[in-house]
Amino acid sequence: MARFSPSYAVSRMKPSATLETAQLARDLKSQGRDVISLATGEPDFNTPLHIVEAAHRAALDGKTRYSPVGGVAELREAVTRKLERDNSLTIDPGNVIVSNGAKQVISNAFIATLNPGDEVIIPAPYWVSYPELVGMLGGTAVIAQTRAPDFILTPQELERRITPRTRWLVLNAPGNPTGAIYSEVELKALGDVLARHPHVWLMTDDIYEYLAYGSARFMTLTQAVPMLGDRTLVINGVSKAYAMTGWRIGYAAGPAGLVKAMGKVQSQLSSGANMVAQYAAAAALDGPRTEIDAFVCTYEDRRNKAGAVLQSVHGIQLKLPDGAFYLFPSCKQLLGKKTLEGKVIDSDAAFASELLQREGVAVVPGSAFGAPGHFRTTFAVATDLLLEASQRIKRFAESLQ
Ligand SMILES: Cc1ncc(COP(=O)(O)O)c(C=O)c1O
Repeated sequence: MARFSPSYAVSRMKPSATLETAQLARDLKSQGRDVISLATGEPDFNTPLHIVEAAHRAALDGKTRYSPVGGVAELREAVTRKLERDNSLTIDPGNVIVSNGAKQVISNAFIATLNPGDEVIIPAPYWVSYPELVGMLGGTAVIAQTRAPDFILTPQELERRITPRTRWLVLNAPGNPTGAIYSEVELKALGDVLARHPHVWLMTDDIYEYLAYGSARFMTLTQAVPMLGDRTLVINGVSKAYAMTGWRIGYAAGPAGLVKAMGKVQSQLSSGANMVAQYAAAAALDGPRTEIDAFVCTYEDRRNKAGAVLQSVHGIQLKLPDGAFYLFPSCKQLLGKKTLEGKVIDSDAAFASELLQREGVAVVPGSAFGAPGHFRTTFAVATDLLLEASQRIKRFAESLQ
């Protein structure tokens, strides 16, 4: 029988830990187990009606053919209006590219720019896909450490990680998994370092932009440091803010040469994004914010309630996040303890695995995000389930001896 052997690229890649954990939870559920999954970063709300109606109208109007590779003009123009309105960025629609989710935008950008050995600075804790995509292309993910509980990249750490081979710095705020948001002062401090290293390009992944709580205010890097505009790719999308994960629309705005190269990549990989979904995304960006604001209020309430339960657990440290929809507690003080059956919890992975087996709650181990000793839960799940899951986490953690 022919033996399958994967490519070099695939053999270097880890599967997505978040999707794997979510699948494990689904499998256990289908076996009849009572499982609550806090594993995926996906709003539990339905897409607002006016957005669905815009898609319906587009389909009825025959917008069902191949889209231009970079996206339909209506959406690219809506993106420029959004960037002007929310981020004070004036961008030509020709410098915008629309893709099959922000994930494809990011992949396109790396494929368009990285050569083997090129370095990409990724602050940890990081979204699981950045280092995998870089590694797949033969690039080197250079991990810059940030410190709990704020998880903000310092100018000193950034400076330390830059080499002549650095191609990109990836900045994701509000961050997945930490929810960290950079203040204007913090962005300007990073800008001072970047000003000294003009060969470093900036990828700002702003996909959680609207999900900011309390007094936290989001600002994108080029808003704080406009002179970085000619080497910054601003990435965003509709998945998280508008409860549109399944529509698969993300976009980026950046320098013409880069956007053109990304379009070339996309033209061979996948062509233009789903046409009907693009009209839905345009309606989302141009439409009212009422429902989005209501989503954010609900997330904030859940953050406070679930956060309070976890903060009350002896051995768990948690600062409430400023944004996104994840809690990222430390379970370091629980490591070394034993379950009632005598199993030693020697890592965050063991913590997550025993929690799933004993209490039926799926969380993602922090090691997947480059932060061992932590775990990630989402609060984008129904409040009653979230609170039940939080109580189970408490019961499990307090049962450890
Ligand atoms: C930080 C970050 N960037 C990008 C994405 C991908 O979003 P999309 O659904 O637009 O591909 C995610 C999804 O989890 C994310 O957390």
